[in-house]
Amino acid sequence: MSESFETKTVHIHHNPVHPDVSKATPIYQTSVFAFPGLEEVEDYYAGKRDYLYTRNGNPNQVELAEAVARLEEAEQGVGAASGMGAIMAGLLAVLNPGDHLLASHEIYGGTYALLHKELSRFQIEMELIDLSRCESLEPHVRPNTKLFYLETITNPLLTVADLPYWMEQAKQHGLLTMVDNTFATPYLIRPMSFGADLVVHSATKYIGGHSDVTAGVLVGRRDLLQRAKEIVVSFGASLSPFEAWLAARGLKTLALRMERQCDNAEKIAAFLSQHAAVKTTYYPEENDVAFFQHKRRGAMVSFCLADEARVYDFYRRCKLITLAPSLAGVETTLSHPVTTSHRALSVEQREASGITMGLVRLSAGIEAAEDIIADLRQALEF
Ligand SMILES: Cc1ncc(COP(=O)(O)O)c(C=O)c1O
Repeated sequence: MSESFETKTVHIHHNPVHPDVSKATPIYQTSVFAFPGLEEVEDYYAGKRDYLYTRNGNPNQVELAEAVARLEEAEQGVGAASGMGAIMAGLLAVLNPGDHLLASHEIYGGTYALLHKELSRFQIEMELIDLSRCESLEPHVRPNTKLFYLETITNPLLTVADLPYWMEQAKQHGLLTMVDNTFATPYLIRPMSFGADLVVHSATKYIGGHSDVTAGVLVGRRDLLQRAKEIVVSFGASLSPFEAWLAARGLKTLALRMERQCDNAEKIAAFLSQHAAVKTTYYPEENDVAFFQHKRRGAMVSFCLADEARVYDFYRRCKLITLAPSLAGVETTLSHPVTTSHRALSVEQREASGITMGLVRLSAGIEAAEDIIADLRQALEF
């Protein structure tokens, strides 16, 4: 029987190590598993037992990774200590020295740093493309181009990539594809259904959903995941059992949270776009998300203050809404890209991409929309 997304999100079937099954998944907070004798250790190496040592595998990691894989309609998944750990595992599962990578120029700063500072040391070359000005990958593809990397909704200007188009382009040129689906979640879009080979999440964000966990998940094609799992283990990027447990617990309410957070974001964007103290509001248009599930436009809203000089006062005046440079918790939060996530960019780079001092990024929570709007109004009107 095929279950709906909402049912799959809640019914996470953990695979108990102990025969007495508890309703909630226990936290296997152990670094190692005990064996009655050497024969059972041999069984582990023969693939007849699942667990030996937590860095190599743990029921809580597997529960989370399998749940996300099911929601993303992927063959397999692996947990990692953070979103960056999962991204690293995905990239290294595909790329070898001498390979070339194409990526959208609007990628998370940490991913850019990983590519630019670390993978370049392994002679992995990259080229960043402004997808809004590019019609075809053809001029960018080289004989050694292996992978195309992009994000479903970008940070901080919330541009939606035309995923069906870009996946098709990548396939035409024989490239593998990896998509960071952190901002959209599988509730809004499942990149595997458009032909992605790997999908990655900072589970620190909507998967966990409560700003209390740091975790990552990579899902995708079985052959690539086999290699990615080995990389997570060898690089020591394994997910802690407790973090995995928290993320899996948070995941169960993903559909409910996303519905409410998208509702709130829509109302907040409508309010901001009418407000005289706001110069520009960034929120995906309906036609941008025509290929999304439920046609929802996401739960993030960015906006630029008309008077940039007021930006410090604005953050300080927000009372209900907290300044916290992350996103996707149940409480509405704000971040300031220029001084946090995009700090490493030069002024010219920032100005060129529209990331100005007056730009504010808001992550809509699940509070009553009128309370969030009232807080924004009093902070804007002074
Ligand atoms: C889109 C995106 N991908 C990946 C990451 C990295 O995730 P983590 O902080 O869990 O390593 C982030 C973090 O903000 C992000 O926003």
